[in-house]
Amino acid sequence: MFSTPEYAGALPGAFKNLLEWAVGDADVGSIYDKPVGWINVSASPTGAADAYRSLAIVLGYVHAAIVAEACVRIPVTRQMVGSDGLITDPVVCESVTAVLDALVS
Ligand SMILES: Cc1cc2nc3c(=O)[nH]c(=O)nc-3n(C[C@H](O)[C@H](O)[C@H](O)COP(=O)(O)O)c2cc1C
Repeated sequence: MFSTPEYAGALPGAFKNLLEWAVGDADVGSIYDKPVGWINVSASPTGAADAYRSLAIVLGYVHAAIVAEACVRIPVTRQMVGSDGLITDPVVCESVTAVLDALVS
């Protein structure tokens, strides 16, 4: 399960580098054929769409199994994050639960 900010119109370089090191078929630590999804929480007008487009390209390249139902946009504003760092908004919580269910199943 991934979530990422957008940097200069793409995936942050360090995150892409992490995925580059997860390349490999039967190698230990490989992401090959592993089920993956993402939650895009950007509340910006562009919705960090380019970051997730580039994430999809990299995940496809390393042959991860992208679970479509586990790839969603759930905008989260700063006001929705409590002083304890937790998000209690019921819509967000339900959406995250649905995404995790989709990934697990
Ligand atoms: C170097 C840098 C480049 C960024 N480039 C983009 C971008 O291309 N598109 C975008 O929507 N946000 C961009 N952002 C904003 C980040 O994705 C993120 O929303 C921002 O750092 C706020 O995160 P925070 O609320 O955790 O501080 C950039 C941020 C940084 C530091």
